[in-house]
Amino acid sequence: MNAFRFYAPTLFEFGEGAEKKTGDLVKQFGGSRVLLVYGGGSIKKNGAYQGVTDSLKQAGIEWLELSGIQPNPRSGKVYEGIEICRKENRDFILAVGGGSAIDTAKAIGMGVLYDGDFWDLFAGKAPIEKTLPVGTVLTISAAGSEGSDSIVITQENGGLKWGIPRTDVVRPKFSILNPAFTCTLPAFQTACGACDMMIHIIERYFTNTPDVDLTDRLSEALLKTIHDSALRAIKNPDDISARANLMWAGMLAHNNSVGIGRVQDWACHQIEHELSAFYDVAHGAGLAVVVPAWMEYVMNHDIMRFARFAVNVFGCEMDFAYPERTARKGIHRLRGFFRHLGLPSNFAELDKNIKLSDIPAIIEHRKQKPNAFPFGNFVKIDEKGMEEILRLCV
Ligand code: NZQ
Ligand code: ZN
Repeated sequence: MNAFRFYAPTLFEFGEGAEKKTGDLVKQFGGSRVLLVYGGGSIKKNGAYQGVTDSLKQAGIEWLELSGIQPNPRSGKVYEGIEICRKENRDFILAVGGGSAIDTAKAIGMGVLYDGDFWDLFAGKAPIEKTLPVGTVLTISAAGSEGSDSIVITQENGGLKWGIPRTDVVRPKFSILNPAFTCTLPAFQTACGACDMMIHIIERYFTNTPDVDLTDRLSEALLKTIHDSALRAIKNPDDISARANLMWAGMLAHNNSVGIGRVQDWACHQIEHELSAFYDVAHGAGLAVVVPAWMEYVMNHDIMRFARFAVNVFGCEMDFAYPERTARKGIHRLRGFFRHLGLPSNFAELDKNIKLSDIPAIIEHRKQKPNAFPFGNFVKIDEKGMEEILRLCV
């Protein structure tokens, strides 16, 4: 295990009725004039909006609203939010929703206190040093932004979907997790979320760092729990125990509890972010296509790690004479699981607009990112490698 520093100071309020604490928590972290950030309106159907605004009222906290945040959130709403905060003297940003509302809130928080274009912070032109306090009320188990050190935004000018250089500065002050809010999720969103959180673990699990048994085992337990709970939640959307397991697993998958002390990969996220920038596909659905393709491409680098994944996560029998058969079985089972959840297996199923002839343009687009190639750490992916992985997605 490598040396590490782990600082994840988010307060979590988990369980039924947790949203009733919103007002008190905003106060606890110094807020009195809130900007409430949310998406297309699902929060008005699942009770989150009502619960949160009742709590703010009760605590005597006034708020303004910024709504209409779309999935794969765009820079325009971040600029709008920064302007509102400056004009209206906001001192706290509260996101209610999923990764898209939360990332927009986090980007506004750091953008307000930066004297320049907030995109500089994504491009690495300026260090991320401070942010207004941000709180979240989560309504979808997926991105893990409620506890993460990351933000992903699409810059409309150029369609660049980039994450910030990771920093603990942007972790939310608090996150409220009431699993009941996630019962209104359509099956497809539940599936996309389960896939995303599984891949957050897989991006860390496939490492060249030796002696990471504890985090390997924690990862396998999380993967199995997500697998089983996703099946239950899709079969019965009101299965509150499955929803609760998914909600906490999604947080653990991405607050780096299982990533410490090892070199992490992240190649699949880099590739998927190009796809969702190009075609506006759901992040989890894009990953369901990219990850098995990446696995096929890199498997020979460490057959035994893939075989371990197959045995410990999917219960495959170990073939000691031909471990590559076990490794392949694991990839096959993962792809089959995603398909069973209703997720796509190839580009045609992901979005019929994706054409083989688009691949050079996707690779070219990536080059706008600083240090675009190579990326990934388990196996370094160069331009040729990215092309081969994308071809395996067809
Ligand atoms: O907009 P509304 O009406 O809220 O509808 C949303 C949206 O259409 C809907 N939804 C959310 N909760 C619901 C609900 N519908 C019914 N009932 C509920 N309870 O679900 C749709 C997707 O919402 P979104 O916030 O986009 O989902 P998710 O949490 O998957 O976030 C995806 C974004 O997060 C980024 C992704 O790239 C993508 O842009 N990521 C952020 C990360 C981070 N900051 O750490 C890490 C991830 O790897 C990821 O890249
Ligand atoms: Zn993700």
